[in-house]
Amino acid sequence: MSSTKITNIDAVELQEGIQNAAFHEDDDDTSDASSSREQQATSVSVTRPEENEYTQIKPYAGMPKEVLMLYSRKACYRVPREIIFWLIIACTLALIAMTITIVALSPRCMSWWQLSPVYQVYPRSFKDSNADGVGDLKGIKEKLSHFEYLNIKAVWISPFYKSPMRDFGYDVEDFRQIDPIFGTMEDFDELLASMHDKGLKLIMDYIPNHTSDKHIWFQLSRNGTEPYKDYYIWVNCTRDKPPNNWVSVFGNSTWEYDEVRQQCYFHQFLKEQPDLNYRNPRVIEEMTDIIHFWLKKGVDGFRMDAVKHMLEAAHLRNEPQVDTDQDPSTVDTEFELYHDYTYTQQGLHEILTNWRIDLDAYSREPGRYRFMVVECYDYEEIDKTMRYYGTSYVTESDFPFNFYLLYLPDDLSGNQAKSLVHLWMSNMPKGKWPNWVVGNHDKPRIGSSAGTEYIRAINMLLLTLPGTPTTYYGEEIGMVNVNVSVIQDPFGHNSRDPQRTPMQWDDKLNAGFSDSENGTWLDIAPDYSTVNVELQQADAHSTVSQYRALSLLRGAELALSRGWFCFVWSDVNVFAYLRELDGLNKAFLVVLNFGEDTTTDLSSVTELPDTLTVHLSTVPISQKTFTKSRIPTSRGQGMLLEYSTNQRFHLNHASECYVSEKACYLPALDILYNKFSSC
Ligand code: GLC
Repeated sequence: MSSTKITNIDAVELQEGIQNAAFHEDDDDTSDASSSREQQATSVSVTRPEENEYTQIKPYAGMPKEVLMLYSRKACYRVPREIIFWLIIACTLALIAMTITIVALSPRCMSWWQLSPVYQVYPRSFKDSNADGVGDLKGIKEKLSHFEYLNIKAVWISPFYKSPMRDFGYDVEDFRQIDPIFGTMEDFDELLASMHDKGLKLIMDYIPNHTSDKHIWFQLSRNGTEPYKDYYIWVNCTRDKPPNNWVSVFGNSTWEYDEVRQQCYFHQFLKEQPDLNYRNPRVIEEMTDIIHFWLKKGVDGFRMDAVKHMLEAAHLRNEPQVDTDQDPSTVDTEFELYHDYTYTQQGLHEILTNWRIDLDAYSREPGRYRFMVVECYDYEEIDKTMRYYGTSYVTESDFPFNFYLLYLPDDLSGNQAKSLVHLWMSNMPKGKWPNWVVGNHDKPRIGSSAGTEYIRAINMLLLTLPGTPTTYYGEEIGMVNVNVSVIQDPFGHNSRDPQRTPMQWDDKLNAGFSDSENGTWLDIAPDYSTVNVELQQADAHSTVSQYRALSLLRGAELALSRGWFCFVWSDVNVFAYLRELDGLNKAFLVVLNFGEDTTTDLSSVTELPDTLTVHLSTVPISQKTFTKSRIPTSRGQGMLLEYSTNQRFHLNHASECYVSEKACYLPALDILYNKFSSC
């Protein structure tokens, strides 16, 4: 029956569509239409002659559905159709996969804390605006142009909270108030607003481990007032017998007998700095509220102080002695014990991670990223330091301070510089951002620990390594430690006063730091008439001019700010490395001399062109170019050489190289460089 219908169709078709009543009939047919169509299909597929019959006609516009179906089932239509269908699916999937890959790998916008060096201001010593001999917030505001001059966008200010100043601000009496010596909350608000107006970011010091013993919490805790009773760590003891052998960072027992409560409280620093009890959830809440208080005010981040000390073991067991033969009664310094029960205890990272989440909650507006850096000295246990970066799944700090370059002067040499840089690079988790510290308020200035002739080379190292450099105020002009006449710092024979002397602005009264007629809180360095900002700014070859030039260059040259970093040479005198970035043919070679006068032969580095142009030398030289086989440097000289190339060193020396942000680089681009490198 159906084959008859087909014949009819053909007939109708032959009549050029004049009449197609047969189909209308069929459409109108109230009998089981679908089963009839099925039968048609079956009949068509088996009825060869009729099929041939209808395929002799070409498909035409306006043909009825049934005819269309008959054509479309034919292999010559079906196969291409299916191919196109699967091709579309495959292309769509490939497109989605490519989009995801590109989004994941393409360069992320670098954040402000990656783009600029961090400059540390020690507020007592930066600039005194009211002639009392101590620096203050208004003074910092007066000197904002200095940061602009240095091309610095991120400023960390050491603590200016209300404090009895036993540890010069690291003993906080009230986390929500400004100490009168530094000014008022209004001064702070004005400083922050002015900094933001100038595009500068303010990083505050945050001291979670302890408060001052003058803090109201401690006052209430020592007389047992709830809920403050357990805000600190109290243990039963007698006046002359501490609960265990734990010693403070500043020396002697960590335990202090309190006459009021008649118990011992725990302190990892001075006895005037009782440790908070982080096993008490209320303490965490209180300290988190303080973070919120300052975030709401608009601060851009925190440097978190002494974090590894925040928790200690509840069992209070004695810590093992480093020298088991030592008489236990003589153990009174930090390095005589293994701090298994007082440093980096379980639960610490959870607290820090939660604070990171708080910072993230305030980072949602564009350009308002809140930064977090932690202070922890883990010495040879670098894995503990790296843990503060977080894990693959959880972000913690943006970086823990990298203090390892502080050891450079211990064995000043090219090899030592390389091994310290390598130490960080090889231990840092993948995709994280490095940073470098060469001095701070706790450590001797580089000019004193390494020698003044190395200051410029060390600044060049700091500013040309990949990652964020931190500069302690005064290092940009080459200030050195000062033998102060009156010791202020309570850290006894390790007094940190010498590296905390007032900033040397000019050669006038008090080096331009203060108008005080009665002296300054620490002596002014005797070299201030020759080592000062004003004088050095007028000299294009001075330490500060070179610092500025390097800081500007770092901001302007992608190869320096986010490019590949590759070791190319180290020996007892020289440390050399290069910075390059795919897609740019300008690259830099940095040659730093941390030893004696020498000539370095880099002819084995085939990727370097024969001639290199001097971009900056820390000592005056007349030669403008060098051949790579003869690069002379003198003791303490740093040279930044520039060259043009399309050869990529990192492609052939993966193990010697590191790229700052994995997002900066698509390995697929290697194909291009391999292919066209000989062009
Ligand atoms: C940090 C500070 C240091 C201070 C100590 C105690 O290490 O950098 O100056 O004395 O914490 O707060």
